[in-house]
Amino acid sequence: MKIPSRIESSIRELAESGSTLNCYIYDTTAMREKITNLAAIMPEGVEVFYAMKANPHAAFLQAALQAGARGIEIASLGEAEKAVAEGFSAQQLIYTGPGKSSEELRWGVEHGIRTIHIESLLEAHRLNGICAELGGRQDVLLRINADFDIHEAQTTFSGGSKKFGIDEEKLADVLPQILALPHLNFRGLHVYAASGVLRVEDLLKNCELVFGMARQIEADYPQVICDMIDFGGGFGVDYLESGHDFDPVAYAEGLQRLIDDYGFGGRTFFLELGRYLAADSGWFCTEILDIKDSRGKKQVICAGGINHFRRPAALAINHPMAVVRMQRPALFAGQEKVLDEAVYFGGPLCTGADKLANNVYIEAAAVGDIAVFGYAGAYGLTMSNIEFLSHERPREIVLSGF
Ligand SMILES: Cc1ncc(COP(=O)(O)O)c(C=O)c1O
Repeated sequence: MKIPSRIESSIRELAESGSTLNCYIYDTTAMREKITNLAAIMPEGVEVFYAMKANPHAAFLQAALQAGARGIEIASLGEAEKAVAEGFSAQQLIYTGPGKSSEELRWGVEHGIRTIHIESLLEAHRLNGICAELGGRQDVLLRINADFDIHEAQTTFSGGSKKFGIDEEKLADVLPQILALPHLNFRGLHVYAASGVLRVEDLLKNCELVFGMARQIEADYPQVICDMIDFGGGFGVDYLESGHDFDPVAYAEGLQRLIDDYGFGGRTFFLELGRYLAADSGWFCTEILDIKDSRGKKQVICAGGINHFRRPAALAINHPMAVVRMQRPALFAGQEKVLDEAVYFGGPLCTGADKLANNVYIEAAAVGDIAVFGYAGAYGLTMSNIEFLSHERPREIVLSGF
C-alpha cells in the first residue's frame, strides 16, 4: 500500500510528539469526490444516502452533507440524533434495520423522517399503532429477504434464513396485511443483497430482481405503485489490492438499462452506501511496541489491536498496510526487527483473536515504527471492541473536512 504523502507527513509529525502513536487519521477528500461523482453519473431518480454505520464521526457526516448526499441511512435513534446534530433534516433520513424499538419508531414519526423500512409484520403493526396514536401516516418501504445470494460477498443480507426483511416467498401473504394498515403508506421495496461486492453484475442482478418483484406487485395490486426502490449498499472496495475496483460507471450504465427495460423512469431509487464512500478516507495508525521471534515467525505487537481495529480479525482478512519507518534507536543489542519476511501483526490484548494482519510480507520494520492500515475509514473504530481491556480510546484526527 502506498500511503498518501499528506497522511505520512501527519503520521511523522504525530509520532515525533513523544507519546505512543495510536490513532485514526481521516481525510474525507475521497469521500466528497465519490459523492459528487456518483451524483454526476447515476441515472435520473437515483438518490445517494450515506450509511453512517460505516463511520458516524462528524467529519464523515459533514463530508456527506457538504458534498450533497441526499441524506443519511440510519439504523438507530443514536444515529438519527447524530445526523441531525450535524445538520441533516429529519426529512433526509431513511430508517432501516431489524429490531426498531417503539421509542425509535416514535421519534421517526414525530420528526417526520422520510421513510421507515419495515423489516417484519410485527414492526408494521408496531409502527401503525404509533402513527395511529400520533394521528399521522408514515411512508414505508418493505424490506424483502430475496431468495438470492451473492456467494462471493463479504457479508450477505439476503438469501437463506435471515433476520433481515420478509422472505420473498411470504410476500403474497404479508403485503396485503401491510396494505390494510391504515396509517402506513406503502411506497415500495428495499432489497439489499450483500456488502463488499466488487462485481457490478452481482449488484445489478439484485436490482433486476427487485424490479421483477415490483412489477409483479403492481400486476397483483393495480392500486399499488412501487415508486421508491431501495437497493441498499454494497459497493465494494479493493481490500486485497487485486487491482479490480468497483466500477460505478458500469453500474450506472447497467442500472439505466434496467430502468429503461422495465419502464421505471420517473421513480426514485435509493442507494445507501457506507463502505464505498468512507473506506478510503481513513487510516488506522498504530505504533509497533515489540517484535519477537516465536518459533521462526515474527510477532509484531502494536499499541492497538481488535479493541481499536477489529475488522481484519472479524472478517479474517488482511487490510492493505504499510510501515512508516521512524529510525528509533534500539534498546539493546540484538533487538529483533523485521527484514524481508512474512509476519504476524497483533495488538496488546490477552486473546489469540487479537489479530491485525497475518502472513503479511514486510520489507523492514522495527520497534517504534508505525503500522498503517488502509481502507480503515469504514467499519473501523465503532465496529471494534473498544472497551475490551480498558485501553485508552485511539484519537481520531481529521486532516480535512470542516
Ligand atoms: C440496511 C443497510 N444499508 C446500507 C448498509 C451499508 O452497506 P455498505 O457499507 O456495504 O455500503 C448496510 C450495512 O450493513 C445496511 O445494513
